[in-house]
Amino acid sequence: MCGIVGYVGKEQRCVEVLMDGLRNLEYRGYDSAGLALAMPDEKGIETTREVGPLDNLAGAVGRKNGDFFKVRAGVGHTRWATHGRPSEANAHPHTGGGESGPEVAVVHNGIVENHAELREELEGRGCEFRSETDTEVIAHLLAERAETGESLRKALVGALKRLQGSFAVAAMSADEPETIVAARHQSPLVVGLGEGENFLASAVQALLGNTRKFLFVENGEVVILTDSTVEIQTLWGEPVEREAFEVDWSAEAMGLDGYEDFMLKEIHEQPAALQATLAGRLDADDAVELSELNFDLASPGVERVVIVACGTAYHAGLLAKYAIERLARLPVEVAVSSEYRYADPIGDEKTLVVAISQSGETTDTLAAVEAARAFGGRVLAVTNTQGSLITREADAVLLTKAGPEVGVAATKTFLAQVAVLYLLALGLAGARGARPAEELAEIGLGLRRSPEKVEEALGLLEGRMGEAVGMFAGARCALFLGRGHLFPAALEGALKLKEISYLPAEGYPAGEMKHGPIALVDEQCPVVAVLGEGTLREKTLSNVEETVARGARVIAVAREGDEAAGRVARVTLPVPEVPEILTPIVSTVPLQLLAYHVAKARGLNVDKPRNLAKSVTVE
Ligand code: F6R
Repeated sequence: MCGIVGYVGKEQRCVEVLMDGLRNLEYRGYDSAGLALAMPDEKGIETTREVGPLDNLAGAVGRKNGDFFKVRAGVGHTRWATHGRPSEANAHPHTGGGESGPEVAVVHNGIVENHAELREELEGRGCEFRSETDTEVIAHLLAERAETGESLRKALVGALKRLQGSFAVAAMSADEPETIVAARHQSPLVVGLGEGENFLASAVQALLGNTRKFLFVENGEVVILTDSTVEIQTLWGEPVEREAFEVDWSAEAMGLDGYEDFMLKEIHEQPAALQATLAGRLDADDAVELSELNFDLASPGVERVVIVACGTAYHAGLLAKYAIERLARLPVEVAVSSEYRYADPIGDEKTLVVAISQSGETTDTLAAVEAARAFGGRVLAVTNTQGSLITREADAVLLTKAGPEVGVAATKTFLAQVAVLYLLALGLAGARGARPAEELAEIGLGLRRSPEKVEEALGLLEGRMGEAVGMFAGARCALFLGRGHLFPAALEGALKLKEISYLPAEGYPAGEMKHGPIALVDEQCPVVAVLGEGTLREKTLSNVEETVARGARVIAVAREGDEAAGRVARVTLPVPEVPEILTPIVSTVPLQLLAYHVAKARGLNVDKPRNLAKSVTVE
């Protein structure tokens, strides 16, 4: 939530780099955006801020000329409002000083928890606040120190030591126009390395068009950035050596590649995301190969699994529970991170904790990991983001290789998570001898073929969504039903629909529907039934019949040519046949497309749904 960028380098490049960086970070928030630039010839700091999406700031920048583009250093921010509504006054960068001392500017991602008392203290000393934000206290604390002659680094460190909460902050001062100082505690921050220029950002995605070489900034570290030097120190001034790493994501991956929206592009990238995620993790006999993990899956020390995650990643976790319990016969608890972290959780060193997070930054999931650490659990992170915070908190990491996901609604990263978690289930089952190797290899083969099956699903659904989407015209809500491992798929379908179309949608186990939600059913509440194979399919069908008897209009997600589905449903969204345990993978595709097309039919921005941000770095 909130994205920050910084640049020190060449004239004519600064504004462009900052704006491109913000464009690539807009998924983190789009309530407002702004820039602070160190103007040439000691003309101080100029800020430009606009409410609303980045296009508004781009418009304002487009109206500038001359000196504005001659700057060599600046910082930028895209905001997801926490303290203070979206307004120009509350937009970052926030400034301080400028009267008896140098003017300073800061951008911030995180929350200053003790902002109210700091504000009172600063106001007591005559400081005038211009916004309702928590961040403005940092600007004034910094300005007060800069006024006494402290360097930007010293002043920022001094200011940060007064803060409680989380921050990634980048600051500049009119007195040191060619330096940016940044620091972080719990919110993400990376440094990008260039030639005669250096960069800062909340995430590597911001800078892929400029560099692929990065340095991570760890908790409690400060970075001093000029065009030719990058110095990292602790908050106590000790120098830190950090090795650079290279990311393999390309700048092109951040483009639309001819698609109308990132969400649609990313739905269509799912076969490639699965392919890349599975590559090298199944051997020639379709047995799972996870030697990349630095702990032994066969270890008799693992007696139970706890999965922590939020949102869509939580749904992937629910699917993993079905797979691990069924294949490896290990008990699995799945918890929403924000609940788990405060639940005084029970566990010991025999608990394997699997933390799933696409971004690797979700504050609640990081805190859940910390809670699990407290009881001695071993932590395995599943994330799409190389080097993200979670990778540094975990004992082992399984990366999904979906490439950068820009659309706020997770799609390709969900399927990639599910693939990795199925590999884990197969790996645990194999290592523990819980199932015959042939049975596991058969599922491994199914998984290997899943990219082509998802491709086939996309082909089958092409041009077939219209009638189903039409059933949502005038709808007031929707019910998504599934049983067994198709229940998490139903939950994911409902989440996708509500987050991008703003229609209330419930995901429910079909058999539980008669205990309440069936009261929702009428002509204006379409029912989406996710049918699979096996015994639960018949049960789901009869639950769906019960809704039809009460006037429901049903959309079935079912195997191509499924006649029984055709009899109960007005519309069938076909998926190809796959081994029964893998049906959630193909069944998710029509649900994503349904949500996408319903939202588009309502004229909504699917990539930037209201009130949301992709990376939830505050509690
Ligand atoms: C929904 C969605 C969110 C995320 C959730 C967790 O489409 O994207 O529900 O799944 O915020 O995010 P990560 O996986 O980054 O921890």
